[in-house]
Amino acid sequence: MIPDQWYAVLTSDEVRPGKPVGATRLGEKLVFWRDEQGRIACAADCCPHRGVALSAGEVVGGAVACPFHGFRFDSSGRCVEIPANGASAPVPKVFQARALPVREAHGFIYIWNGTPRAGEAGYPPLPWFEDIDESFSFGVARRRWKTHYSRAIENQLDVVHLPFVHRRSIGRGNKRIVNGPPTTLDDVHGLRVWVENAVDQGQTPKKPGDYPAPPDRPHQLRFLFPNLWENRISDDLRILVAFAPIDGENTLMYLGFFQRFMRTPVLRGAVNWLGARSNTFVAGEDQPVVETQRPFRTDLKMDEKLIPGDAPIILYRRRRRELIDAAQTKG
Ligand code: FES
Ligand SMILES: [Fe+2]
Repeated sequence: MIPDQWYAVLTSDEVRPGKPVGATRLGEKLVFWRDEQGRIACAADCCPHRGVALSAGEVVGGAVACPFHGFRFDSSGRCVEIPANGASAPVPKVFQARALPVREAHGFIYIWNGTPRAGEAGYPPLPWFEDIDESFSFGVARRRWKTHYSRAIENQLDVVHLPFVHRRSIGRGNKRIVNGPPTTLDDVHGLRVWVENAVDQGQTPKKPGDYPAPPDRPHQLRFLFPNLWENRISDDLRILVAFAPIDGENTLMYLGFFQRFMRTPVLRGAVNWLGARSNTFVAGEDQPVVETQRPFRTDLKMDEKLIPGDAPIILYRRRRRELIDAAQTKG
């Protein structure tokens, strides 16, 4: 995982008020719950008393209560009650659960992968696509993939596989020639890709280097570090994927269908639900292929022989390595 990043790891509706939720993310068992104001909280899912999963407990007064002996922990991880010692007894600091920095926005819950910063100003903003605003509504479907999240991300940046893996769906038309693809990376937009595949008529593909981003039309694919991907289908429709790392070998894919062409409340729900399901059909074509890739985790230096059409993947690997190195130098 990349240190010092906000990872989108759950959707908001997965954590309802009044009930703690256990989930393994970034290789760690975590508990999520909501305090009395509905604000999201997250801690290591392990009671400091004797190791029971807090997620098996309940939420009482905005604090998560362990099912074994009822110790309660607030959203900062502070133990606020040890029932056996008497409700009014002060609780020593040592009974602190390890809380994680957690935020919620755009229908997702993000956790911070790194040491907590002093104050809100110490954190970078949450990654999000500014072109998906409040005018969009959405549906999300979840699928678990048996691979490292870097493989799942690279699959979504891979324009070479379309006429093979998706020959019966989004890759119809046998466009095997990969022109470019033009790919850019900057701090504002993240990684952007313009898909320029064509039918092979004996032509030589244009190389990514001598193929600038077309000024007359927007990119199709966009990726924001560490784990959000967007496909611009039209002004009113986006496919979004959040690749939530469960651990080094498993990824939970949140396949989002964001639209604003249908705004009537009842119909909107049905359209979003159906849209999210159709995403799982396309992702279902990728999954059995991607799960065979070895090693699970990719890196900039690894034993793979890439081609010019893999430009987005090379750029992803390069930037990811830079971010990991930068965090390690700093820390
Ligand atoms: S193990 Fe959690 S309160 Fe005892
Ligand atoms: Fe695919």
